Amino acid sequence: MDELQELYQQIVLEHYRNPRNYGELPEATHRAEGYNPLCGDRLEVMLRVREGAIEEIRFRGSGCAISQASASVMTTLVRGKSLAEAEELFERFHELVTGTGAVDLEQLGILAAFAGVREFPARVKCATLAWHTLRAALQQRQEPVTTE
Ligand code: FES
Repeated sequence: MDELQELYQQIVLEHYRNPRNYGELPEATHRAEGYNPLCGDRLEVMLRVREGAIEEIRFRGSGCAISQASASVMTTLVRGKSLAEAEELFERFHELVTGTGAVDLEQLGILAAFAGVREFPARVKCATLAWHTLRAALQQRQEPVTTE
């Protein structure tokens, strides 16, 4: 098994089985709903933003292992970050799963577990669902965001 497959096994499956920050967030200041039109799965992201930073975050919804693990990992990464840092992480993740450049495992840290999805366009939507929903929540968009 190569290094990326091993990471996938460890991180994606572990976060899918034990999702972090799953559930309702009381006193959320921002929330958005995301929708993957390919499969119909929906995800909700709730945030409590204070003084320009993400103080607390939760997600809920249903979906495949990749979408749920990606949501779980996303919440652990952006919690405590400034809005600009969260946007930067969105860009980094998006480039990782849609780009063609080399994957720098050390620089990516836990995100590298999702590098393999770039080979599978349908899976890219699963992996990015939570991130698009995060961005919609930060932009306070009212209508559900899709992965299209
Ligand atoms: Fe629905 Fe992956 S199959 S989000």
